[in-house]
Amino acid sequence: MGVRPDVYSAGLSATKRVRLLPTHAMGLVLLRVRLSLRFALNDGATMSAKGKQDSQRMEELREQLNLHNYRYHVLESPIISDSEYDLMLRELVELEDEYPQNITPDSPTQRVGSKLSERLERVRHPAPILSLGNAFNSEEVFAWYERILKLNPSIAEAEFVIEPKLDGLTVVMHYEDGIFIQGATRGDGNFGEVITPNLRTVRTLPLTIPVDKTSKVSVPRSLVVRGEALILNKDFETMNRQLKKEGKATYANARNTASGALRQLDSKATAAKRISLLCYAIIDADGQLPESQWEVVHYLKKLGFPVAEGITRQVNIEAAIEDAEAWIPRRDSLPYEVDGVVIKISNFALSESLGIVGKDPRAAIALKFPAQIVTTQLLDIGLNVGRTGVVTPFAILDPVIVGGVTVRKATLHNFDFISEKDIRIGDRVDIKRAGDVVPYVIGPIKDLRDGSEKPFRRPKKCPVCGEKLEQDPGEVAIYCVNSTCPAQMVRIVEHFASRGAMDIEGLGIRVAELLVEAQMVADVADLFRLRKKDLLTLEGFADKKAKNLIENIDASRSRDLWRLLAALGIRGVGEVAANDLARKFQSLDNLAAATISDLEAMEGIGPNIAESIVEWFAKPGNRSVVRKLRRVGNWEFLIPVESERVAQMAEGLTFVLTGTLENLKRSEVKTLIEVRGGKVTGSVSKKTSYLVAGASPGSKLDKARALGVQVVDEAALLRLLEG
Ligand code: IVH
Repeated sequence: MGVRPDVYSAGLSATKRVRLLPTHAMGLVLLRVRLSLRFALNDGATMSAKGKQDSQRMEELREQLNLHNYRYHVLESPIISDSEYDLMLRELVELEDEYPQNITPDSPTQRVGSKLSERLERVRHPAPILSLGNAFNSEEVFAWYERILKLNPSIAEAEFVIEPKLDGLTVVMHYEDGIFIQGATRGDGNFGEVITPNLRTVRTLPLTIPVDKTSKVSVPRSLVVRGEALILNKDFETMNRQLKKEGKATYANARNTASGALRQLDSKATAAKRISLLCYAIIDADGQLPESQWEVVHYLKKLGFPVAEGITRQVNIEAAIEDAEAWIPRRDSLPYEVDGVVIKISNFALSESLGIVGKDPRAAIALKFPAQIVTTQLLDIGLNVGRTGVVTPFAILDPVIVGGVTVRKATLHNFDFISEKDIRIGDRVDIKRAGDVVPYVIGPIKDLRDGSEKPFRRPKKCPVCGEKLEQDPGEVAIYCVNSTCPAQMVRIVEHFASRGAMDIEGLGIRVAELLVEAQMVADVADLFRLRKKDLLTLEGFADKKAKNLIENIDASRSRDLWRLLAALGIRGVGEVAANDLARKFQSLDNLAAATISDLEAMEGIGPNIAESIVEWFAKPGNRSVVRKLRRVGNWEFLIPVESERVAQMAEGLTFVLTGTLENLKRSEVKTLIEVRGGKVTGSVSKKTSYLVAGASPGSKLDKARALGVQVVDEAALLRLLEG
């Protein structure tokens, strides 16, 4: 086979590599050897304390890295995160740079990958499957650029390709005469494991190329493509949901699940896992081939290989770094997991001139994202009492940096989760922090237990008020049913004042705690009775702060009704439902008098919300709050509206809206109808009373006509509603 290696995957043997180095690079190599020789002599004679310490550290790192490597690749049961591994490896590489004479043959830097699993047949790759050097910030990418620019000044003219660094596992696919004949894992970089039948189950893998036989693209007789096998986030979630439904343990991580699935002996088991594939390199081929990475990306696409979306090309390093950094905020909305971005010199001739260091070609670098999963110790389990009385557990952690932020606490979801995962106090746990999501515990690393870990007992009493906790049959949540529990009150006040509710600035959880603790606020209506002199007795309240808070509370007396409704904390009544309810009922009193069927008749209010509203108003404690609210405020919307109540002209009628109305917005028309007792639904049926049609009506008009539903325009509707 005529080899035309792609520098991003096709490696060269060590001897070939040295021969290929350009002369100026050779110079550097010799210089380094000489320097290290000198250093070695000097070192041997008077090994400094630092030297001794460093050499001990190197030994420790080698041992640790080899162990973690084995756990990861052979046992498939890692006990540290990838980023922790990367950091250790980096420390060793730096030390080996300083003390090249101390590099040992068993150093993990001296080999690519690790021992293979014995189970699958092994195959030699046509060229070593190489890896990537890492950078952890843009300065390090820039330093990489400066380094390669020094090695070859033509880099100044280079184009860069910027690709997502897919967090999957490398697969190598062989095609002969356009037919997929063999697939292998990366293995140790030289030998991989044959997983052909398993890869065939990957739906996006082309079994023949080009997939589109009408395309004019030329296909080499023999072609070896490199890609990354992974499980898409949505497939991973579906898989875990199903496992949960079946009462089985869920998978912690998509990458390891994909790797396990592809290395199964039974490919039916692989097929069940919905593995996906994205390709990015040509390892080997004969015939005329692309001369740059940019062309490879397009060539692979043309042949029908799946390629990641969003790959870009830039003509200078600054723009390339900018493109790379633009991936960071997109990370959580991508359909798959990425752990960084790869910046590659596009032109292969230029890339090859730069050579390879260890197993990393100099012509590419990975800008790694901050780790999202890390391991730390679970110091204790705390309990939180929410405003509905739900008691939830949370993890108190040995502080650790995740995604660039120090995390001390993480959610443990609920008590069932702790028992299902057998999480014990003192365990090493994996925690994940992605985007704005609250950090959460994935699970314990059971292999790291030393026997001192303590199983957690579900609480029987409320940690705040001491009341017995209750659990409804069939529900996961455990409740404190004491409605005067101070912990609940604090949360209720916090929610009442929050931005999406009454929006009282300066009344967050800290102030809520002070007010409840000082027994100044026993329910939310008490807030409106607070005086400045009361606040001045609280810690941290001086004249200005107290005055501001009183003013802010006062200002909230004239908020819209929906805000008050959302502020009450009725289960299921958020901003949207509160808006609908306010429009329909126009006063708190009207809403308090509503029946389940009144509420259920509204679009968007299902039986659960309807029931929770009626239940809320039925509770004597809540009734008293409503009475108090009426007395303490000049709440315009609390004035009984019986006299103003609009005639229920649309009672029992169902409307459907279509097309663009002349004067009114759809939402306004909806309100007009609902306030008059009517209902607005989305589709025309025999039960529809009227179709309100504006300009350019859609198929709804045809359907209404076919069913004999009366059609009215905006003016006719208004006449109808006015009565
Ligand atoms: S290029 C010679 N491009 O990252 C360069 N690798 O940490 C070889 N990876 O083992 C790799 N996305 O499995 C390249 N767009 C991408 C990649 C990518 C993910 C993986 C690959 C490699 C690892 C290196």
